[in-house]
Amino acid sequence: MKQDPRFPNLHILDHPLIQHKLTHMRDKNTSTRTFRELLREITLLMGYEITRNLPLTTTRIETPLQVIDAPIIAGKKLVVVPVLRAGIGMSDGLLELVPSARVGHIGVYRDPQTLQPVEYLVRLPDLSGRHFILCDPMLATGNSAVHAVNVLKQRAVTDEQIIFLALVAAPEGITVFQNAHPDVKVYVAALDSHLNDHAYIVPGLGDAGDRLFGTK
Ligand code: URA
Repeated sequence: MKQDPRFPNLHILDHPLIQHKLTHMRDKNTSTRTFRELLREITLLMGYEITRNLPLTTTRIETPLQVIDAPIIAGKKLVVVPVLRAGIGMSDGLLELVPSARVGHIGVYRDPQTLQPVEYLVRLPDLSGRHFILCDPMLATGNSAVHAVNVLKQRAVTDEQIIFLALVAAPEGITVFQNAHPDVKVYVAALDSHLNDHAYIVPGLGDAGDRLFGTK
């Protein structure tokens, strides 16, 4: 795991398998099917890392040989919250890893003129005492990510209960996010160079939603 001195709460998961798969996702000649498979695979690898510090408790079980107090994850079920629509490509992978997780949805689109997020859907499970993984592959301007965290914090979820998981981030977006939510941890596979005039991440991978769903 790598850190950038400018962004204390940003964690870059630079595992060779993650980097290798991301390179194939960036390639414009990669098919929709392969893109989708790679996003799922990367999310499994990233999910393994970000769940490393989940609190454990014990439960008493009986193996064929002995009664033991064995470790299990403590507390209520995790909540995975994809930011629609590209976040779905990551929540699928996370749910393979944590099949009992609850799932919320936050639908936000970017107004093409103002680049500000416009919310069109919020559906969340019971929130009290849970941990949340918000996911959206591209953290570009940071506005949607900030908005998604606001949605949870307005419902009394605390910073420590939230992890934001993205695939690729732009420094501009991480700056915006960090100013709004300095205590929310962000995990990414890559911190790219910059945003272009259309708020696309450079070099990036293009429109993640279009590449994931085969739309244009
Ligand atoms: N959203 C995307 O899908 N790609 C970008 O580069 C920026 C925002």
